[in-house]
Amino acid sequence: MPDSPQFPRTAPDAAPVQSGEVDVKRPSAARAYDYYLGGSSNFGVDREFGARVLEQVPFVRTFAVTNRSFLRRAVRWLCEQGVDQFLDIGSGIPTVGNVHEVAQQANPRARTVYVDHEPVAVRHAAAILDSADPDRTRTDVLQADLRDPDGILGSPVTRSLIDFSRPVGLLIVATMHFIGPGDRPVELMARYRDALPSGSFLAMSHLTVDGVTAEMLEQGRILEQLYANTPNPGYFRDRAEFAALLDGYELVEPGLVWVPEWRPDQQESIEPAASATLAAVGRKP
Ligand SMILES: C[S@@+](CC[C@H](N)C(=O)[O-])C[C@H]1O[C@@H](n2cnc3c(N)ncnc32)[C@H](O)[C@@H]1O
Repeated sequence: MPDSPQFPRTAPDAAPVQSGEVDVKRPSAARAYDYYLGGSSNFGVDREFGARVLEQVPFVRTFAVTNRSFLRRAVRWLCEQGVDQFLDIGSGIPTVGNVHEVAQQANPRARTVYVDHEPVAVRHAAAILDSADPDRTRTDVLQADLRDPDGILGSPVTRSLIDFSRPVGLLIVATMHFIGPGDRPVELMARYRDALPSGSFLAMSHLTVDGVTAEMLEQGRILEQLYANTPNPGYFRDRAEFAALLDGYELVEPGLVWVPEWRPDQQESIEPAASATLAAVGRKP
């Protein structure tokens, strides 16, 4: 019998994960990322995989922590710009400082739709919302694949909370590196961009080995190999490839930067390139 992930304390009465809908034999990106962040929503197979990753590719912990921090800063900044509805695709397993929590701190009426294709991530998000917003008046979750923009944009879940006649905050954070070249990432991004009204924003981050040390470059090669045998093979992109995903947006200051450099709360002591992660926020004109 596989072990079960523990459910967050915020939803003590949540239904257990149905193992029939979860691939418990192979690690998933969502559950491994939860492990890197010190979460408990993962299986033994994820912990074993995650420990191997952290041993061979130590920058992954820095990536996870600095990336999650960027997500929170970006949401807060978007709220300051007046954005009050968020579509978070590749939202992952809920952890401290979830998008709806950060957004509702700034604006209690803020709405969030979480989207992930990973059943554990979706089940955990649903469990949290069952206590935080049982009627789903402000926050909901959808199990769907980023590569299906029609399904996500047209879903009744999305349509019930997101008003596409008003600016939307589209969050695709640390997720596009799971979308390979064969899935036409630039076209996919264009589909989402075209659905957004003027004044909307895209916040995005992405793993890269462009501009890292030789040692990290070698670690990156190992990371690609490790993920190649999971349901979520990963792809590094260089700066130009990442910039191409932001086509059609005007980047807000400070532009396309290492993730710790995007409007840091405090002076970060970390060497920015140690995150191996690029970030940007763009506004649709
Ligand atoms: C590294 S986590 C990032 C989570 C969160 N966005 C963050 O930055 O903290 C990547 C997430 O993307 C999800 N993901 C990967 N490929 C996806 C796809 N094709 N469709 C939807 N979600 C996907 C994974 O399940 C995982 O939860």
